[in-house]
Amino acid sequence: ELPKKINVKEVGPRDGLQNESSRISTVDKVNWINRLSNSGLSYIEVTSFVHPKWIPQLSDSIQVAKSIDRKDGITYAALVPNRKGLEGALEANMDEISVFMSASETHNQKNINKSINETFPVLEEVVKVAKQENKTVRGYVSTVFGCPYEGEIAIEDVVYVSKRLFEMGIDELSLGDTIGVANPKQVDRVLREIRHQFPEQQIALHFHNTRGTALANCLAAMQLGFTTFDASLGGLGGCPYAQGASGNLATDDLIYMLDGMAIETNVQLDALLDAGRFIQDRLGKPLPSHQMQIDQRK
Ligand code: HMG
Ligand code: MG
Repeated sequence: ELPKKINVKEVGPRDGLQNESSRISTVDKVNWINRLSNSGLSYIEVTSFVHPKWIPQLSDSIQVAKSIDRKDGITYAALVPNRKGLEGALEANMDEISVFMSASETHNQKNINKSINETFPVLEEVVKVAKQENKTVRGYVSTVFGCPYEGEIAIEDVVYVSKRLFEMGIDELSLGDTIGVANPKQVDRVLREIRHQFPEQQIALHFHNTRGTALANCLAAMQLGFTTFDASLGGLGGCPYAQGASGNLATDDLIYMLDGMAIETNVQLDALLDAGRFIQDRLGKPLPSHQMQIDQRK
C-alpha cells in the first residue's frame, strides 16, 4: 500500500542554481524563493555556504538567506561543508543545517577536497555546534546508486557513511543518486537494506533525473514506505563536481503525479508553475521538466 502523504523538500535554490553558469541576481533569487514559499512547500533549501570559488553562483548566500521572507511552518535550510560554512548559516539564522559527503572516496575528494576519513571530524564538529544552537541537521550521502569515477558503490560503503552520520546526531539522512543512474529495481534492493539498518521516517531520497528514471525510482521507494523526497522546481540541478550530473527530479512533475494518485503534499501546482516561469525567464532558457514544457506550449 502506498503512503497517503508525502513530504516534498525543495532544493532548487541550492542544487538547481549551483549548476547554472548564468548568474542570477540576489534580488531575483530572493523573489524566487518567496514565490516558492507561497506554493505550500514546507521545506526549502535556500542556498549553500561553501567556498565561493567552488560554487560562484551561490557566493551571495548570506544576503539571500537574510533577505527572504520567512513564512511560519516552512523550514529554511542551507548546505554547509565545514565550520566556516556553519558560521555563515548561523549568522543567517537558518532553521536547518545540511552537511554532506559521499559514499565514494573519489567523489568525496573531488567535491570537498578531503578523504572520507578526513571528512568525519569536520562534519562531527559542525553537527555538534549546530545542535548546540538548536538547529535540526540533515546529512546527505552522495553517489549512493553509482559514482561517475568509481562506478557501482557497495551498499556496505553507503551504510558505513550513513551510520557515522547518524552517530554524529543528524535528524535526517538524504540518500543521493548524484548522477541519476539508479533504476527502480536497484532502488528496491538498496532501500530494503537501508530500511533494515535505519528508521525509514528518517530517510529522504534525492534522485537526479539524468536518465529519466527519477519518478519511477520515487514510486519504488514509496512502495517500500519511504515518504520524503527532495526535488527541484523545473528539474534544474546537478553537482558541478560529479561529471555528467544534471537535473534533479522536478518538483512540478512529482506533484503532478502525486496529485493524480490522490497522495497529499499540500503543494499547489499552479503556484509552483508560477515560480517556475519566474526563474525560467531569469535563466533565459526553458526548464527541462515535463510540466514546464507543457506550460510553455499554452
Ligand atoms: P578547501 O580549499 O580544501 O578548504 O575547500 P580549506 O579548508 O583548505 O580552506 C581554504 C580556504 O577556503 C580558506 O581561506 C578558508 O577560509 C576558505 P584562506 O585562508 O585561504 O583565505 N573556506 C571557505 N570560504 C567560504 N566558505 C566556506 C569555506 N571553507 C573554507 N565554507 C571546501 C574545501 C569544502 C570549502 C570546498 O571544497 C567546497 O566549498 N566544496 C563545495 C563543493 C560543492 O558545493 N558541491 C556541490 C554541493 S554537493 C551536491 O550537490 C550533492 C547533493 O546535492 C546530493 C547529491 O545529489 O548526491 C548534496
Ligand atoms: Mg543533488
